[in-house]
Amino acid sequence: MIKVKFVVNGKNVAVESSPTKTLLDILREDLGLTGTKEGCGKGECGACTVIMDGKAVTSCIVIAAQLEGKNILTVEGLSADRIGKALQDAFVDSGAVQCGYCIPGFLMSARALLEENPDPTLDEIKEGLSGNICRCTGYVKIFDGVRLAAARLGK
Ligand code: FES
Repeated sequence: MIKVKFVVNGKNVAVESSPTKTLLDILREDLGLTGTKEGCGKGECGACTVIMDGKAVTSCIVIAAQLEGKNILTVEGLSADRIGKALQDAFVDSGAVQCGYCIPGFLMSARALLEENPDPTLDEIKEGLSGNICRCTGYVKIFDGVRLAAARLGK
């Protein structure tokens, strides 16, 4: 077991864990943050995406031994975040959510994208969300949601 200290949604946390326990499992099991979802468990579907030190990462392939001192933002922290809140509202207003399982991951990837590029083209949005898979929406309304959030934030 190792003890790691890091920050989640602005709060300091300390977790005792096996060194290879995934960030996804630590968030869900140790910290009770179940908004982050598990899809493939292999870094391929994007459902488990969170932001670590400003970059979108798939939390199912980040392990405890990599976490010391890191700053993590999860979907639970988005409503207190200017870009995150705009994305949440725009996803609702655009009808971007169907079953909803993949949406936390999409929101986190979109949050990382808009921080880096506040006025992305459609192609840049597609590229920024290319690591996230959705089986319901056909993606169009999700892309609409990101464009709406960017437009509102730019005003
Ligand atoms: Fe992590 Fe699919 S569950 S990428």
